[in-house]
Amino acid sequence: MSEEKKQVEQILDRFENEFEKFTNIAKSKFDGLTLKVAEKLQKEISEVRIKHTGKKSELSGAKKLIGKVAPENRADFGKFVQSIGKKIENSIEETEENLKTFIEEAKIEREKIDVTLPGRRPRVGHLHPITLLRQQIEDIFVSMGYAIEDDREIETDYYNFDALNIPENHPARESQDTFYTTDGFALRSQTSTVQIRAMERRGVPLRVIAPGRVFRRDTPDQTHTPMFHQIEGLCVDEGITMAHLKGTVTEWLKRMYGKETKTRFRPSYFPFTEPSAEFDFSCFKCEGNGEFEGNKCGTCRGSGWIELGGCGMVHPNVLQNCGVDHKKYSGFAFGFGLERMCALMYSLDDIRLMFENDVRFLEQFN
Ligand code: DAH
Repeated sequence: MSEEKKQVEQILDRFENEFEKFTNIAKSKFDGLTLKVAEKLQKEISEVRIKHTGKKSELSGAKKLIGKVAPENRADFGKFVQSIGKKIENSIEETEENLKTFIEEAKIEREKIDVTLPGRRPRVGHLHPITLLRQQIEDIFVSMGYAIEDDREIETDYYNFDALNIPENHPARESQDTFYTTDGFALRSQTSTVQIRAMERRGVPLRVIAPGRVFRRDTPDQTHTPMFHQIEGLCVDEGITMAHLKGTVTEWLKRMYGKETKTRFRPSYFPFTEPSAEFDFSCFKCEGNGEFEGNKCGTCRGSGWIELGGCGMVHPNVLQNCGVDHKKYSGFAFGFGLERMCALMYSLDDIRLMFENDVRFLEQFN
């Protein structure tokens, strides 16, 4: 072989050496190659093409040699250079083609939508634990023939206090200090206001419960928040006695916490009822034993009883304030807070959790 041919063959060798990396990848059918790497290879190959077949390439130099060899060898040498050039071109072409196909397929794969995949489920909210508890209580009272009375949260002193037999300077006002607006209005400190509103609006006889927000000037701590929820109950008719009150409260609590639940009434004082009582029910955790699994019950603190609310026979002054004949009609009323009840049922040691709106806390009540 002539010296020139040998030189040209070395051009092929050098090309093949450099190009081996690409042919090997192509032989493995681009196994495990990412789209990004494939696109990088594509760029590299086009650089290799310029280097080995471009104007400044060794191959181009070899072509220029053709005219310089002896005329009788020229045709043969020319063919030889051509064939080497073809080999290089073909190698590049083939690998490039395969890579291009791989890239196209990878792009299709990437953009493909799998219509059989399930959709992303939107996160649906759910009711707040206080709302759930309120609804449970509402259901029980509705089944006993009570209507649900909704009313305003901003009240006048008259409805919050005076009409409920709490005159100005009465000490009961102090424990229910609330928030006042500049126009002589106040945020109601108790749902008892709805007793008055309901009797004025509906007249008697009537049976209502009034759930709602109430407000007091309390510094928040584990057991106090300046806003909380109460449910008020009121039943007025002819011949209503304390026995009806006890029967109603007992029936409600049995339905809430089970047939074995006992209730207890302790004498108390409220300006708007006479006589007045506080009502307790036997602890649902220890079933009134005061002991749970050998330890002092944490829910009732060992007493076996849970204090829930206040109640009594509607004071004749309150009936009179609503234009109801207290000689003909009598009634009972009761009221209690929802937060403490909820906290006990779910063993929460801090009622503030209920209003911090932390989803991690709230989603547990789903
Ligand atoms: N309103 C009272 C309070 O907030 C609770 C209450 C006591 C309501 C006795 C009543 C009742 O209807 O008869 O402390």
